[in-house]
Amino acid sequence: MFETIEKEIVKNKQFLNDVIEGLSADSKHISSKYFYDKKGDAIFQQIMHMDEYYLTDAELDIFQTHKCEIAKIFSPEKEPFNLIEFGAGDGMKTKVLLKELLNHEIPFDYIPIDISQNALDQLNKSLTKEMPDLSFKGIQGDYFDVLNKLKEDNNKRNVILFLGSNIGNFTNEEALSFTSNISGKLNPGDLLFIGVDLKKDPRKILLAYNDPTGITAEFNYNLLRRINRELGGNFDIDQFEHHPTYDPVTGECKSALLSKIDQEVAIDDQTFHFAKWEPIHTEISRKYSLKQLHQLANNAGFKVKIDLFDSNKYFVDSIWEIKD
Ligand code: AVI
Repeated sequence: MFETIEKEIVKNKQFLNDVIEGLSADSKHISSKYFYDKKGDAIFQQIMHMDEYYLTDAELDIFQTHKCEIAKIFSPEKEPFNLIEFGAGDGMKTKVLLKELLNHEIPFDYIPIDISQNALDQLNKSLTKEMPDLSFKGIQGDYFDVLNKLKEDNNKRNVILFLGSNIGNFTNEEALSFTSNISGKLNPGDLLFIGVDLKKDPRKILLAYNDPTGITAEFNYNLLRRINRELGGNFDIDQFEHHPTYDPVTGECKSALLSKIDQEVAIDDQTFHFAKWEPIHTEISRKYSLKQLHQLANNAGFKVKIDLFDSNKYFVDSIWEIKD
């Protein structure tokens, strides 16, 4: 109980420090990792069901079309392995794969890793109800701590799932250090299965982050609401506007919140000035070309085993193994 309260206080302190640092910078910014409180999680679920947000359907299409092939790549001789998922989510796409592996009678442990115990508990409940034979071994904690432990226990192949183009929310440097860190913790024969949104018609991309119903805008405004709720801020949400842009050269879809007026906002005991139309950068959702993705794999110490595409070639699930 005390431990939980202590953790909450440390988390909030980190949130406050990051917000103050980001809003004091010359170019104001707040990390998109703070989108995901309970309300933010719920809005993201809505986003994934929007027609404009093609990413979810595209990845689901890959899973449905290639599930048999994927099962054989993960366990060619039906040997036991660990299926580790970074970020639990609601398991909608993973379910397709889990069912396929169970149908093939491949022995495996499903190990989702998430910082939220609540997310893991909910996932456990929904998956084991649908698949009573599933060996669910969710772990609450940091991805890399868990990988360290699994590396030591190296008698089984580890397959890591990093789906949904979450890699796109990293800068180039972060993506390289994240994937290099993973390759450093894998044993020969282990695999990284990474879902990535590809460059395409810029209009299609922009619409996914600028839906006419305003759900994605609400996702961004929730960040300001969260600061008001948790850090005692006094943002007037109506005085900010969601502003996504997409640059086909860099592949970066960037979201910002623009101040509609010249204004002051107080957080904790500090005041921040916003000039009219000044942006707070909130998120980057990077789109890759296949060539850039393969370069990332190579630079991080991986070789690409196979690329699996949806029927429109909007998205790729790329399977990587470490170089010999
Ligand atoms: C979680 N992440 C991969 C989503 C994305 O597409 O960058 C988050 C998101 N932001 C706006 N819409 C969806």
